[in-house]
Amino acid sequence: AEHKMKLQMASVTDGKTGIKDASDQNFDYMFKLLIIGNSSVGKTSFLFRYADDTFTPAFVSTVGIDFKVKTVYRHEKRVKLQIWDTAGQERYRTITTAYYRGAMGFILMYDITNEESFNAVQDWYDTQQRHKPRRSFWGLSGNVCEVEEGRIIGNNREKMGKIQKRFDFFEASAKENISVRQAFERLVDAICDKMSDSLDTDPSMLGASKNTRLSDTPPLLQQNCSC
Ligand code: GTP
Ligand code: MG
Repeated sequence: AEHKMKLQMASVTDGKTGIKDASDQNFDYMFKLLIIGNSSVGKTSFLFRYADDTFTPAFVSTVGIDFKVKTVYRHEKRVKLQIWDTAGQERYRTITTAYYRGAMGFILMYDITNEESFNAVQDWYDTQQRHKPRRSFWGLSGNVCEVEEGRIIGNNREKMGKIQKRFDFFEASAKENISVRQAFERLVDAICDKMSDSLDTDPSMLGASKNTRLSDTPPLLQQNCSC
């Protein structure tokens, strides 16, 4: 049984230490974060850069959903980030939107060389809003910002339209490791700030996220598993 459990645990990587151990319950808080946006904008690359500091030029489109775990420290507290990487392809939309629930932070991504991906930003946001979310924090990331040619979307915040106010906007590059860590850390900081603000008025905010158990297998996949 122990052997079997180890195998299961190997599906989750702790990006900080490289130790594969999803059963590690030694943390103070767990934040669930999601990366969403059109296919091929670089969501998976962004997560791999953050969690494992790797990048591959080959494009392997995500099937359904996946996640990685990374631990950060804030105010001497150990914060475990469970970061879900969603498939951008339309056909997985039913699966991926099922994971919006309970997410505390979103990174909505487009590719600055891909106009369609930028035009889709509002739709991604609206879809999440339709899922009756609890209060969540948002980063808007224009990925592939390292390119010298091929930029289509400018980096002027004002042009982002009215939704820009909701987002912490930045341009980034998973390839060149520009603003990747910052993107996640700003979300974490925003969630931490909100938590300390609301502890007096709303203790349930803390209870909701404290020592939430990580499961080894994404719940939806478990349901569909026939074995
Ligand atoms: P789906 O899983 O289909 O939703 O796509 P995705 O958003 O996860 O895209 P993915 O991370 O797989 O990246 C798509 C392609 O873009 C890959 O070939 C990556 O190598 C490339 N890519 C990702 N980030 C960057 C970047 O910052 N700069 C450049 N030049 N290429 C990038
Ligand atoms: Mg992907």
